[in-house]
Amino acid sequence: MLNSFESTVTLNNGVKMPMLGLGVMSIPDGRQMAEILSFAAEVGYRSFDTATIYGNEKGVGEGIRQCGIPRDELFITTKLWNNMQGYENALKAFDNSMKSLGLDYLDLYLLHWPLPMRPRYIETWRAFEKLYTEGRIHAIGVSNFNGMQIDEIVEKCEIKPMVNQVEFHPLLSQPELQKYHQQNEVQMEAWSPLGQGEVLKNPVVRQLAEKYGKTTAQIIIRWDLQKGIVTIPKSGNPERIKSNADVFNFELSNEDVMLIDSLNIGKRLGPHPDEFFAGCIL
Ligand code: A2P
Repeated sequence: MLNSFESTVTLNNGVKMPMLGLGVMSIPDGRQMAEILSFAAEVGYRSFDTATIYGNEKGVGEGIRQCGIPRDELFITTKLWNNMQGYENALKAFDNSMKSLGLDYLDLYLLHWPLPMRPRYIETWRAFEKLYTEGRIHAIGVSNFNGMQIDEIVEKCEIKPMVNQVEFHPLLSQPELQKYHQQNEVQMEAWSPLGQGEVLKNPVVRQLAEKYGKTTAQIIIRWDLQKGIVTIPKSGNPERIKSNADVFNFELSNEDVMLIDSLNIGKRLGPHPDEFFAGCIL
């Protein structure tokens, strides 16, 4: 349990997802992306989180083929971008992503943003259900959704999302949403777990780093894991990729987990999901 890269969580459909993965947002496509993925795979990462909007699905695909790890030992996530919501669009977007990645199945497909000002997530989700039922995706989920939006999917569609990937770090730990996920068997996944680097300067986190002889990033990543939250710290730097994974040989005390919990001030570093509409055709 939580002592190696093999630590997984079982999603509500029985699929096992690694607890720690690598976020690859803003890593340039092509050789650079492929080399970083191969390096991370050598370190032990098996889960890689990209998105159509990151523009590096091709490089992720190259990395998958180069890294020498059997496909069925990898867990690959990508996300449907906002301009492709709607049933037919989503089917097309998925095919495009699969072509870029060069894969014949995907582990997790996420609906990137809810776009409540132009809601089409129900019809989009129906396309996700079709692809899932056909076996082309092993798990489907959403990103940046609130509980009410997930409830609406559950009410109007057939399949409950398996994952909700949201901004989550010590300054924004969203306790209400955590509770919702636990009660409804939706796995919470953290984007920007390191708060885009900002959280690493926090004095409390620094003190804990000193206490445990770890880096501030390792303290935060370990906190995610102990809270049962899948985490995908982004790094394009080999040293940090390696160091961020050195989190399986120590344990935070319950008091220290609660101490980090107490840092929550509801501070978003990324966009608010109610207001974000980039790429959306209104
Ligand atoms: P880099 O890619 O140069 O390593 P988040 O996932 O919370 O958004 O954080 C990602 C940001 O934090 C990136 O800018 C990344 O930069 C940086 N980062 C990742 N790991 C570390 C680390 N161990 N120490 C300092 N900064 C880090």
